[in-house]
Amino acid sequence: MRFGIDFGTTHTVVALVDRGNYPIVSFEQGDAVQSLISLDPSGTLHFGVAEPEWPVLRSFKRLLDSARPDAAVELGGRKFLLSDLLTQFLTHLRHELVHRSNAGLQQGEPIEAAVSVPANASTAQRLMTMDAFRRAGFEVKAVLNEPSAAGFEYAHRFRETVTSKREYVLVYDLGGGTFDASLIHMEGRSNEVITSSGVSRLGGDDFDETIARLILSRHGGGEVTRTLLDDVRAQKEAINPNTRRFAVDASGQHVVLPIEDVYQACARLVEQTLTAMEPAMRDPRRAEDSVAWGELAGIYVVGGASPFPPVYRRLRERFGAHRVRRSPHPFGSCAIGLAIHLDEAAGYSLSERLTRHFGVFREDAAGEDICFDVLVPKDTALPAEVSRRYRAAHNVGHYRFVECGRIEEGRPEGNLATWDEVFFPFDPALRASDLAEVPVRRLGGGPEVEEIYRCAADGTVEASLRVLDDGYERTVRLGRR
Ligand SMILES: Nc1ncnc2c1ncn2[C@@H]1O[C@H](COP(=O)(O)OP(=O)(O)OP(=O)(O)O)[C@@H](O)[C@H]1O
Ligand SMILES: [Mg+2]
Repeated sequence: MRFGIDFGTTHTVVALVDRGNYPIVSFEQGDAVQSLISLDPSGTLHFGVAEPEWPVLRSFKRLLDSARPDAAVELGGRKFLLSDLLTQFLTHLRHELVHRSNAGLQQGEPIEAAVSVPANASTAQRLMTMDAFRRAGFEVKAVLNEPSAAGFEYAHRFRETVTSKREYVLVYDLGGGTFDASLIHMEGRSNEVITSSGVSRLGGDDFDETIARLILSRHGGGEVTRTLLDDVRAQKEAINPNTRRFAVDASGQHVVLPIEDVYQACARLVEQTLTAMEPAMRDPRRAEDSVAWGELAGIYVVGGASPFPPVYRRLRERFGAHRVRRSPHPFGSCAIGLAIHLDEAAGYSLSERLTRHFGVFREDAAGEDICFDVLVPKDTALPAEVSRRYRAAHNVGHYRFVECGRIEEGRPEGNLATWDEVFFPFDPALRASDLAEVPVRRLGGGPEVEEIYRCAADGTVEASLRVLDDGYERTVRLGRR
């Protein structure tokens, strides 16, 4: 059977491919498995559930953003490998899917999955996510960016809004932990992602934090506690357009705030999403680079945090009520889109682009200075291969690969992710040495070297370094040394 699986910061949602329909799978606890891990007093890990007094790890997807494959996390005073926790969580998910859901899987039946990552996820996050799904027993058929998946749901549901004058859709995805905006060009059944922008740490969790601080600032101060955050979150999710007051218990007091004060406190966060989506309104393939708002078939508002009234209100105010469309399943559109993508019968195709710059730091001015070269720029159509050749000037090549969201004055900025340092022997005599220990010196008449960078359709990057004279080569993928 085939599934779209959206591993989210707060919820993991699964949609099924079922003869042209893409229903969200129901589990015993509801339409999602909570993305959390807890430790009981006997030292056993639990997934998707926690008793109030157990130590709990929430939003662990956020840790993947800057994590290395050997990153450790602490839970209840014990250390765990992040990659192991993720694999165990996904193993639990598979178990729930097989034994405690309405998916209708037979024992032993293969589970094919399309999975998603945030648009600006680094190669490390992509590989860790994909590996963990595989180790948990899923056959991973595709890895898509979250907003690209939501784009399929739009294409499926609102196809008639896409016309020859309005071929662009802007996906506005506000989840628990991340905000992403992606511009998608739709023509026939092909969806082409043009560009993405976003903030990797902005989502419903931050609204909770802001509201909790507002409450404490009005009522005696103190620390933001987990109980308060849980309470705030539950109240926030219960808000509807007629809600007038926001009531919670904090530090033993019953606190009531006018709802407009709560919206006011969160306005800055909503504004941040509007600023972050501006850079997505451009299509570098055209002479006229920027895309006019009039060319949008729609702004598609998805993600669990998007029903929060100030979000929709502000978007309608800014872009006009007729163009802002909400997903009927804001928390499920990514999973549904992933399922649509896996359904060959639906006949949609997708072209993705690299969602961040990939480059390398290198020594300059005879080692006096360090500069940064962009090797594969953001928005390069995928898959892509880029190469360069030069004559090596030193005995050892020292590569510090970096992925980032922006380049400012030649420097990498914005969601910077660094790869492990890679050393490569240009001097053949050093091929068996521990290169990190070898002093770097200039080499007269060094060999000719070729670097090849391959960016796969799933957004991962791989680097090959090769001495052309004798073909000596090393290929590196982050975490696969
Ligand atoms: N009705 C609601 N009103 C406001 N916020 C809500 C509502 N329902 C859920 N949320 C918030 O949505 C967030 C979860 O959204 P979602 O399930 O899309 O995130 P996710 O997919 O887990 O995260 P991400 O996509 O960032 O990895 C939480 O912060 C939750 O409080
Ligand atoms: Mg999500």
